[in-house]
Amino acid sequence: MLFKELGKTGRQIPALGLGTWGIGGFETPDYSKDEEYVQILEKAIEMGFTHIDTAEYYAAGHTEEIVGKAIKKFNRSDLFIVSKVWPNHLRERELLSSLENSLRRLQTNYIDLYLIHWPNPDIPLEETFTAMARAVDEGLIKYVGVSNFDRKLLEEAISKSKVPIVCDQVLYNVEERGPEKDGLLNFCQKEGITLTAYSPLNRGILSMRVKNELEKISKKYGATIFQIMLAWLISKNKVVAIPKAGRIEHLRENLKVLDLRLSEEEIRLIDDLK
Ligand SMILES: NC(=O)c1ccc[n+]([C@@H]2O[C@H](COP(=O)([O-])OP(=O)(O)OC[C@H]3O[C@@H](n4cnc5c(N)ncnc54)[C@H](OP(=O)(O)O)[C@@H]3O)[C@@H](O)[C@H]2O)c1
Repeated sequence: MLFKELGKTGRQIPALGLGTWGIGGFETPDYSKDEEYVQILEKAIEMGFTHIDTAEYYAAGHTEEIVGKAIKKFNRSDLFIVSKVWPNHLRERELLSSLENSLRRLQTNYIDLYLIHWPNPDIPLEETFTAMARAVDEGLIKYVGVSNFDRKLLEEAISKSKVPIVCDQVLYNVEERGPEKDGLLNFCQKEGITLTAYSPLNRGILSMRVKNELEKISKKYGATIFQIMLAWLISKNKVVAIPKAGRIEHLRENLKVLDLRLSEEEIRLIDDLK
């Protein structure tokens, strides 16, 4: 596994994490494949996917329950667990209650990185970060971050938080260049904030133009275009990616990305595909 520093914390985290949206259901729980999913997650962790991304919103908490079952047999300190609080729980009391519920479902006494899932303009950021700071003080979370914050909002959040904001998790992949357009990527790289790219494979949806260009590069490496998409993301300073994979063959393919080193020229070519 390739490790990168989380923010400026000194903590090293896997550059490839594992997304869990859809594991155990989407908006509502689906219990039909629980055993299979627990096994896949256990296998993923054994393979080196020790950075796991989840959220209280996923399957209304059931995804966290599955993650909780899968992480049980591992040494907790070897894992980096990320969860997120939903935007209607950003008041101090609600956030602490959401956190308590996530910890119970995950069967752990701390979360490594806790994120505001989406901004909520109706709740002052100061209040949310006060709650986050309290959770850090109590040892319930190790680090604080945000998700779906654009550059302007991230700067505002930094000015209003007493605890460092070490990560912004945003939509970023070869097709979706939002963080490049609004300067978020540059800002994170300059300030030493981790940018976690979610939907790094754009859920498999690619334009013909991008697909054709990626295919040219992938052929050279005997790789798939999805592997090239991941290799491009993690080649960037401060960027980590969290592809979701519910199949062992996809986990294997994603791990192989770590052996793939794109040339400067190829990286620039993909940069210019925007
Ligand atoms: N913060 C937020 O608001 C937010 C929003 C969206 C997502 N996320 C997080 O980011 C994670 C990843 O994003 P995502 O799930 O939206 O999409 P994604 O990772 O871009 O795509 C997932 C899809 O790609 C497939 N896949 C995985 N590895 C592959 C490979 N090597 N080759 C071909 N296909 C492959 C998976 O199939 P199989 O499952 O069949 O293996 C799945 O259908 C989520 O699971 C979630 O944890 C966060």
